[in-house]
Amino acid sequence: MRHFSPIKGQMMAEQVSLATVAAEVGTPAYVYSAATFTRHYKVFARAVSSMDSLIAYSVKANSNQAVLSLLAKLGSGADVVSGGELARALAAGIAADKIIFSGVGKSAEEMRAGLEAGIAPFNIESMPELQQLNAIALDMGKTAPVAVRINPNVCAGTHEKICTGRAENKFGIDIADVDAVFERAQDMQGVRLRGIAMHIGSQIDSLAPFASAITLAAGLIERLRKQGHKIETFDIGGGLGISYAGGDTTPPSPKEYGDLVRRLTQDLDVRMIFEPGRMIAGNAGVLLAKVLYVKHGGARNFLIIDAAMNDLIRPALYDAYHDIEPVNASAADADQKTKMISYDVVGPICESGDTFTQHRMLPEMQAGDLIVLHTAGAYGAVQASQYNSRPLIPEVLVKDDKYAVVRKRPNIEDVLKTEHVPDWV
Ligand code: LLP
Repeated sequence: MRHFSPIKGQMMAEQVSLATVAAEVGTPAYVYSAATFTRHYKVFARAVSSMDSLIAYSVKANSNQAVLSLLAKLGSGADVVSGGELARALAAGIAADKIIFSGVGKSAEEMRAGLEAGIAPFNIESMPELQQLNAIALDMGKTAPVAVRINPNVCAGTHEKICTGRAENKFGIDIADVDAVFERAQDMQGVRLRGIAMHIGSQIDSLAPFASAITLAAGLIERLRKQGHKIETFDIGGGLGISYAGGDTTPPSPKEYGDLVRRLTQDLDVRMIFEPGRMIAGNAGVLLAKVLYVKHGGARNFLIIDAAMNDLIRPALYDAYHDIEPVNASAADADQKTKMISYDVVGPICESGDTFTQHRMLPEMQAGDLIVLHTAGAYGAVQASQYNSRPLIPEVLVKDDKYAVVRKRPNIEDVLKTEHVPDWV
């Protein structure tokens, strides 16, 4: 559900005109809708409400403090993958015992920080990682709660770069080796293994891969119990796909997903953990940009906008589709008289890969027109860089008829201050 739609010819974020945001904050900027975050969280919570469960929002999707605080107030936990994300989740008021520490390469410092905070399970992904966590916990006089992330060797059927559950991916412990890990962990006094975790990929648009992986994990849980191990939690990760509107995916609804999970896990007597990211954040944000120039090239019409691949890298990295719409609906009018043009929408960065879309039919536009790239709330701002010395762009959160800049635009002087020229240069 989007709270970004036109009212009287002007694209709004809830009740705030995006033209106003552009005039007051400048472009490019990310604009988020609090109502959409809230709605998505509640829809997901309802879909899994018949299970004993924890929703640990995957912070990597959108880690802005205002967003995390909003989700914390709704009762969300957090799935974090770095010391930085852990600090963000704690600062936003997410209770430590609702924080899951995932990731294939946790450093010693990150393990210490997690133990210090008293987080819920560390999802460990290799024997050396378990040994290091054990040593650190013993050194700190603590016992680390641990779940073992398995690699079920299931293809999630998603883009190759965001598929994480096959044997050739770096993630998890081969499902055939997990029994041995539990066995060896019995001699480790610093860790307490009580759970199974997995995450097979992202933007998954069918239930079948989830069903295969859950079935394999359920078999493993039963086997481990027969061997005398206690299994209390089953974390199935995130990955539920969302609609990118004009894109070609029709993912299952959260309800269909929740029903499937319940059906496949109801006899397991475990607490379920969910790590949704994109499903909560994706359609809660847009990238607001301005047309700098319209250029009629030899073979194409280019809409050169002031946002670029450093601000939103998804099209360049994953060939991702984002719906694009003008902010001013006189251009967007579905009226037959509106002249539609095939555009390549591109940014100013000096790479041909700085292309948001090719051959997209859009209403004819002019320099100065504002546009939005939809479904940019997840993996947008968090993946931005300062490539071409373009400072990070601001993030704006809207609620009803008010908005706030929740991350300000640094100026280039701030950026230069972080660098140092040694006197021997
Ligand atoms: N849990 C773990 C351990 C993960 O690695 C991820 C995402 C999630 C949960 C959340 O998955 P979601 O519900 O958002 O699908 N940058 C890419 C997506 C990378 C996803 C990485 N892991 C993109 O823009 O499509």
